[in-house]
Amino acid sequence: MRHVPADLPEAPVVPGRLLAISDLHVSHPRNRRWVADLPPGLPGDWLLVAGDLAEKVEDIEWTLRTLRSRYGTVVWVPGNHDLWAHPRDPVKLRGEARYQHLVALCRDLGVVTPEDPYPVWTGAGGPAVIVPLFLLYDYTFRPDGTSTKAEALDLAYQTGVIGADERHLHPDPYPSREAWCQARIDATLPRLAAIDPELPTILVSHFPLTREPTRILRYPVFAQWCGTEQTADWHRRFRARTVVYGHLHIPRTMVQDGVRFEEVSLGYPYEQDRHPERPRQLIQILPPGPARTLGPPPADGSVHPPGR
Ligand SMILES: [Fe+2]
Ligand SMILES: [Fe+2]
Repeated sequence: MRHVPADLPEAPVVPGRLLAISDLHVSHPRNRRWVADLPPGLPGDWLLVAGDLAEKVEDIEWTLRTLRSRYGTVVWVPGNHDLWAHPRDPVKLRGEARYQHLVALCRDLGVVTPEDPYPVWTGAGGPAVIVPLFLLYDYTFRPDGTSTKAEALDLAYQTGVIGADERHLHPDPYPSREAWCQARIDATLPRLAAIDPELPTILVSHFPLTREPTRILRYPVFAQWCGTEQTADWHRRFRARTVVYGHLHIPRTMVQDGVRFEEVSLGYPYEQDRHPERPRQLIQILPPGPARTLGPPPADGSVHPPGR
């Protein structure tokens, strides 16, 4: 039995886990079923949802509403698919207007977004400030042998590996996706700097914050649609305990500079069939779950194939 000084109450056992998932892509019926069948969380559980829920607003809303009914706190960041102006979506909003529409939807559902005050996880493994990030990419994860966006894009068009964002992700009212990315970084940095320096953070982003996880992409030229070099030191600079991300559809745990990087995507059904060893479950961030190692990079790699 623990010794407790007579004048201090024994600290209660804090319930709850900080869990994460991304890339639910519920337009695929099997993934939609997976979400519908998700059991409710335990009391005190929080769920981080790191983007790419669906292409249609009504499917994004269904997903967030379903998750919110199972978890007391849900935190969302947008993925590129959520922001697409897809021809099949009756909601025709583009760019920033579409993002703000999704933020308003989240507020109606009680879901935390990158526009809200950063919540503090005080459950097991805490305290830690949860930082939902919406940053996009700026074509600086360039393929070897290229030194400008134009060269990187040229190479992509030569090889036929073109991010579908070029067709569907409109940056309005910004002149380009990289300008939108810069505006997001400029708006986010002061908020990060204002976090209590005594507290560690959990950084949550759809896109990887460092280049490292993109090194095993099946199509290395695709990395230019995956992040920005401007966030390369954010995990150290802003005291990240863990960085949670998705987008690559290569779920695994990496450690960089002593910081855990957790890729938490569910991915497409055909990827799940091809890689039965990959988890199809919520990933525990705090208290830290076991590291997920996939061994050497799979020979066939993975990530959104051309045109997806
Ligand atoms: Fe995705
Ligand atoms: Fe994505």
